[in-house]
Amino acid sequence: MEHKILVVGSGAREHAIVKSLNNSAHNKKIYCIGSNLNPGISDVCEKINIGDINDSSTVISYAIENDVDIAIIGPENPLESGISDDLWKCGIKVVGPKKSLAQIETSKSFARDLFKEYQIPGGPQYQSFESIEGVSQFLKELGDNYVVKYDGLAGGKGVKVSGEHLHNMDEAIKYCKEIINKGGKFVIEEKFIGEEFSLMSFCDGRSLKHMPIVQDHKRAYVNDTGPNTGGMGTYTDSNHSLPFLTNDDVKGAMEINKSTIKALSKKFSDEYKGVLYGGFIATADGVKLIEYNARFGDPEAMNVLSLIETDFIDICVAITDGTLDEINVQFNRQATVCKYVVPEGYPNNPVKGQAIDISEVRDQDNLYYASVDLQNKKLIECGSRTIAIVGIANSIPLAEALAENNAKLIKGPLFHREDIGKDFLIQKRVNNMKLLR
Ligand code: GLY
Repeated sequence: MEHKILVVGSGAREHAIVKSLNNSAHNKKIYCIGSNLNPGISDVCEKINIGDINDSSTVISYAIENDVDIAIIGPENPLESGISDDLWKCGIKVVGPKKSLAQIETSKSFARDLFKEYQIPGGPQYQSFESIEGVSQFLKELGDNYVVKYDGLAGGKGVKVSGEHLHNMDEAIKYCKEIINKGGKFVIEEKFIGEEFSLMSFCDGRSLKHMPIVQDHKRAYVNDTGPNTGGMGTYTDSNHSLPFLTNDDVKGAMEINKSTIKALSKKFSDEYKGVLYGGFIATADGVKLIEYNARFGDPEAMNVLSLIETDFIDICVAITDGTLDEINVQFNRQATVCKYVVPEGYPNNPVKGQAIDISEVRDQDNLYYASVDLQNKKLIECGSRTIAIVGIANSIPLAEALAENNAKLIKGPLFHREDIGKDFLIQKRVNNMKLLR
C-alpha cells in the first residue's frame, strides 16, 4: 500500500519529520502545508502548499485534494484550532491529539487541574486567577519562589519566573494586571529549583513508547544568559538519559507521562494519539512537571529523529491504529548535539530578510532549515530561528564538535550558542544537582 502523508508546519521540526518519513521503506508520497517555502521539505515532498495552517478548511481541502491517509501535525496552534478533530471527521488518521486532549498544552490551568483531579505526582502548589483578587495573598504564601503563567499559548513568552523576569511583588502584580487587561487568565505556582529536561513519548491512547531524554537551552546567549527563546539548542547522551539524572528521575518522568495519558483518556473517554512532551525538572525532592506540550519539541525533534531506527511510518500508523504495543521502537545508542543558528538581534529585535550562505557546511545531511525562504534562488532568513545543525557521534563532546564546526560555516548576519553541549556547561548542571541532592 502507498501512504499519502501530510505534514502540517514548515520549520526545522517539520523538516526532521519529513526526512524521517522519507527514510521509511514504505511506498509513500509526502505533502506539506506550511507558512514558508522550506527547501529541505520541498526537496523531498510531492508538493508544499503555503497556506494558513490554523485554518481547518484550508488544511482539510489540501488533504482531500491529495487523497492523504495520515496527517502529522507539527506545531501547537493547529492542535488548538481543532484541525485534528476535523481531519479525523474526514476519515484521515492524525498524529496529533484532538482539541480537548491538546489542552494539556494549550491551557496551563487544565494541566494543573488534571494532576490534582487524578492525583498525579510532580505538580506544584498553584492557584488559577481571572482577576487580581487573592493574588497578593497567594504570592505572599509562596514567598520568593513563584512563577506566573499566562493560561494559553504564547509561543514560550507567557511564563515569567521570580528572580529571572520578576524581581519583586510589584512586578509580579503588574504582569498579572497586564494579562487581566487583555481579557486573559493566569496561573500562579510554586517555582521548582533544579535542572530541566524533556521527555517525549509516542502515545496511541493506551501505550507509550519513550524517546531519549533531551535538554534544551532557552536563553539566547552563552552561559544561559539573555532573553528567553524558542530554544537555542539541545543534546542527548548515548545512554538516552542525561549526565545529571538518576535512574529514578528517568523512571519518575516516564511514570508521570503514563499517568497523564491514562488520566486524559478517563477524562475525555477518548484516546491521545501523538507525542506527549513533558517539560520536567529534577529537584532535590524528585522529578516535577513544569509543563506539557502536545507535540514534538523544537529543537528536540531533530535530536531524537536523528537517532530513530524503527521505520517512522510504522510508528505513525501504530499511533493512529492503537497498536504501539505491537512494535519495538528503537533509537540508535549515540549522542547528539543540535545548535540553532539565529539572526543577529534574535529574539527581541532580529534582522530580517538577509541572504545567508550554507554552501560551506560539510554535513548537509544533518542540516535542518527553519525560518527561511527562497527568493530569486537565494536563501533568505525570515527573522526567527534559521538553521539547525545536528552532530551525531559516540559521545556528547564528539557530537558537539561536529555541530559546532558546521554551525560556524554558515555565513550571514547570524549567531549561535557555542557553549551548548560543551563539557563545562554540562558539568555545571551535574554540580548543581549534586549540591541540591
Ligand atoms: N523546546 C521548546 C519547545 O518545543 O516548546
